[in-house]
Amino acid sequence: MSNIVPATPEAVQQAARVLRRGGLVAFPTETVYGLGADAENPAAVLAMFAAKGRPADHPVIVHLASAALLDDFAATVSPAARTLASTFWPGPLTLVFQRGPRVSELVTGGLATVGLRVPSHPVANALLREFHGPIAAPSANRFGRVSATRPEHVARELSGSVELILDGGGCTVGLESTIVDVSTDRIAVLRPGAVTREQLAQALGQPVELAGVSSPRVSGSLPSHYAPRARVELVPRHEMAARARQLAAGGCPVAVLTPEPSQLQEPQIHVLRIPAAWPELAQSLYAVLRAVDEIPCDVALISLPEEHGLGAAIADRLRRAAGPRGNP
Ligand code: TXA
Ligand code: MG
Repeated sequence: MSNIVPATPEAVQQAARVLRRGGLVAFPTETVYGLGADAENPAAVLAMFAAKGRPADHPVIVHLASAALLDDFAATVSPAARTLASTFWPGPLTLVFQRGPRVSELVTGGLATVGLRVPSHPVANALLREFHGPIAAPSANRFGRVSATRPEHVARELSGSVELILDGGGCTVGLESTIVDVSTDRIAVLRPGAVTREQLAQALGQPVELAGVSSPRVSGSLPSHYAPRARVELVPRHEMAARARQLAAGGCPVAVLTPEPSQLQEPQIHVLRIPAAWPELAQSLYAVLRAVDEIPCDVALISLPEEHGLGAAIADRLRRAAGPRGNP
């Protein structure tokens, strides 16, 4: 059984010992919980892929204790990449570099590039310092499902395959890190997150493009990802009530996710209030999507935020939650 323990200094030391002998630990970061393995232990990395149910050709982010370690793991670091690292690390930003010799192909899913991140969460940081090495960590959820932002979510998804879950409470950001490709001259955002395109552009002094759904191997870029079991439908705000009544009249239990007070009273319609402010919405979004599955309902209706700043990251995850299902 999984073991949720408060992230005391002793528990962090214990987690580092588990990592050292090739075990898996879940730990909080400011974005979402990570499922950590020793990035330099092939057996541990394979166990992590198996626990997640993740195909072997999907690359995993390598977490580092400090930006000073960058040159140990990246083959080349451009001045722009260095600017981004020094501006946003530690923090919710992953930078994709040409892979240095210390990074195994197992971790990068056979790619020539590696995603590196220095998290700002004190527990993640303490674990990285205590472990003295790189920690490979995808989000601590089953492949294709909603990321975990609380320790109980991790336990529900990965019970049995993770030795220790460090409890650091709820994640403050709530959405996975922004991923920026700095491996070529064309800097591009591969996954929007709490470090916004506007902030990146300001740091670099030039606009930063948003890559299209380019590589099928970037799992976060697959159409259906971060999805609850219920079907998610994106509905403009002014059509919400009518669409909910239409579905309910057809015998379909429906959840309406809205920041506004709702007049909907029908027994088939469950209204879930969500925060209006983006930081709070991002923080609670995955917990809300999990709650939808517990109502239970067949369809969840939600409106997209405007796509700038953090709204772009929230809209990205909602689109994926609403994306076509099937083979993730
Ligand atoms: O916030 C986060 O990034 C969390 C915490 C735990 O750090 N981690 C996370 O990992 O979201 P994961 O594995 O669930 O998503 C990482 C994404 C995947 O879509 C993966 O394909 C992409 O990063 N990725 C990793 N290495 C890459 C690379 N070399 N090139 C392109 N994409 C990469
Ligand atoms: Mg993930």
